[in-house]
Amino acid sequence: MAAQGRIVWVSGPAVRADGMSDAKMYETVTVGNSKLVGEVIRLTGDVAFIQVYESTSGLKPGEPVVGTGNPLSVLLGPGIIGQLYDGIQRPLRELSKASGSFIGRGITTTAVDMTKKYHFVPIVSNGDVVTAGSGIGTVKETDLIENLIMVPPDHPGGKILNLVAEGDYDLETVLATAEKDGQSIPLKMYHKWPVRKPRPYLKRYDPTVPLITGQRVIDTFFPIAKGGTGSIPGAFGTGKTVTLHQIAKWADSQVVVYIGCGERGNEMTEVLVEFPHLKDPRSGKPLMDRTVLVANTSNMPVAAREASIYTGVTIAEYYRDMGKDVVLVADSTSRWAESLREMSGRLEEMPAEEGYPSYLASRLAEFYERAGRVRASGSPDRDGSVTLIGAVSPSGGDFTEPVTTHTMRFIKTFWALDAKLAYSRHYPSINWMNSYSGYLADISKWWKENISEEWFSIRSETYGVLQREDTLKEIVRLLGPEALPDEEKLILEVARMIKIGLLQQNSFDDVDTYCSPEKQFKLMKLLVDFYKKGQQALKEGVALSDIRALPIVTSLLKARMDVKDDEMPKLDQLDKDLQEQFKSISGVKVSN
Ligand SMILES: Nc1ncnc2c1ncn2[C@@H]1O[C@H](COP(=O)(O)OP(=O)(O)OP(=O)(O)O)[C@@H](O)[C@H]1O
Ligand SMILES: [Mg+2]
Repeated sequence: MAAQGRIVWVSGPAVRADGMSDAKMYETVTVGNSKLVGEVIRLTGDVAFIQVYESTSGLKPGEPVVGTGNPLSVLLGPGIIGQLYDGIQRPLRELSKASGSFIGRGITTTAVDMTKKYHFVPIVSNGDVVTAGSGIGTVKETDLIENLIMVPPDHPGGKILNLVAEGDYDLETVLATAEKDGQSIPLKMYHKWPVRKPRPYLKRYDPTVPLITGQRVIDTFFPIAKGGTGSIPGAFGTGKTVTLHQIAKWADSQVVVYIGCGERGNEMTEVLVEFPHLKDPRSGKPLMDRTVLVANTSNMPVAAREASIYTGVTIAEYYRDMGKDVVLVADSTSRWAESLREMSGRLEEMPAEEGYPSYLASRLAEFYERAGRVRASGSPDRDGSVTLIGAVSPSGGDFTEPVTTHTMRFIKTFWALDAKLAYSRHYPSINWMNSYSGYLADISKWWKENISEEWFSIRSETYGVLQREDTLKEIVRLLGPEALPDEEKLILEVARMIKIGLLQQNSFDDVDTYCSPEKQFKLMKLLVDFYKKGQQALKEGVALSDIRALPIVTSLLKARMDVKDDEMPKLDQLDKDLQEQFKSISGVKVSN
């Protein structure tokens, strides 16, 4: 029986209702006369605490609260790609049409257009036996996305009967029935799934395939695996959003879920205005043909922000189950954590560090645990992945605050943005000493097989130079660079070249914005070659100033912008120039 209660107390997005003994935890309810959407987040006897996903202004004690019997769920079917949703999967464009303002209250619209027809091509036949998760046919959702129509993961499966012929159908058409034990269950193009429940899969793989983002400091130095987890913390203005945009545009995934979570309205507007105009760099089609936006700006109800993370990750898992690589980026998880804090405060829970609820850590864990590269359930065989990347905005860039420290426990790649680097216009301002990747060993096989046997050793040598520079910096600070022997001055010089020629990358430069794995490797190898030749030349008595003056130095600094991805022979030519130029100075002895 549906719960039928009454509001006794309202505090912002939090509502308490009594007479709710029939309600269940996490059941969605309609709140008040205007039927706002809410969710039961605590039950004590017949009193329910409800978080309301819409503005509660005007809501009064005595108004009814009615249970729906269902947990908070999303609708999964063709039509999701290209949408802009709020935190509970209401299409914002439709909502604004229906209400006139940006977001109306108590308005119900469906998450996708149920009447739109898609061309369905069956991949099963009548009489076939299917299991939960199996594909029964495909439709072209957008120019870039083929949607696999699947038997819902919680469906018993059975024998396919009454299968429709190939043709155009809308979402409510019964495409087939699956019969088992005398029961017949219709299959449609869509199904629903509760957002707080991870979708099942057959098995999970080790994270051995890198997600190629085309960003050198990420792919080469602090890589993330497909199905991996990453976090990008940084103070105000250090480059979180730009980096996430770059990943959304360039990563070699088929689907992107972009969650704009509680960021200032104008920043989200950038995404909303910019993304629809962006082209997918590989296909030239609109980027929105493979992107879903979930938006919850700071002027939208705080509770929906909490839900937006779950809505986003459930959508990501849905496309993963079709066998696609999906990247979910959340900007920013700090704003999401703040919504937990606000709600917890209103419910007068005992606060933990900095007022965040004690369950902050477990909520973060639950979110990041939904990443993974998996073999999907059912037939045909397909592998897909969900990669989860969250920005964190610690105030003042203090990484010891609770959201950053708890996040670090659950993610494996950490891109630490550095205000000093950003200030000196070193972008991406990812600090190479404080960042790390737990995927390096697992993905190095991919680089070896696909790019070069030497990848791991060259990367280690490059990183070694940066580490040595880091220790030398202290001496330079105290005594000045002149106190160092030439071999160490050479390290400083090569480190400078690595920073400018490899680590820095301009998102707004047509060539530099994306760097192929091959180019990344070749640039790095050239720099290591320069270092080795330089060491050798010093041993032979060549003056450091002569090495510094070689024209190849400037060429190496500019190669990232000058050489396009399809011009790799130019980098081979640079290699030849490098050898020749060192040869030309090798006979020159230092005169003293
Ligand atoms: N890779 C890059 N290439 C060029 N410029 C960059 C790069 N990364 C960041 N920037 C510069 O830094 C500015 C701030 O970046 P961004 O908006 O991403 O910071 P943020 O960390 O998201 O800030 P906020 O805390 O306000 O959300 C950008 O407008 C851009 O000028
Ligand atoms: Mg930002």
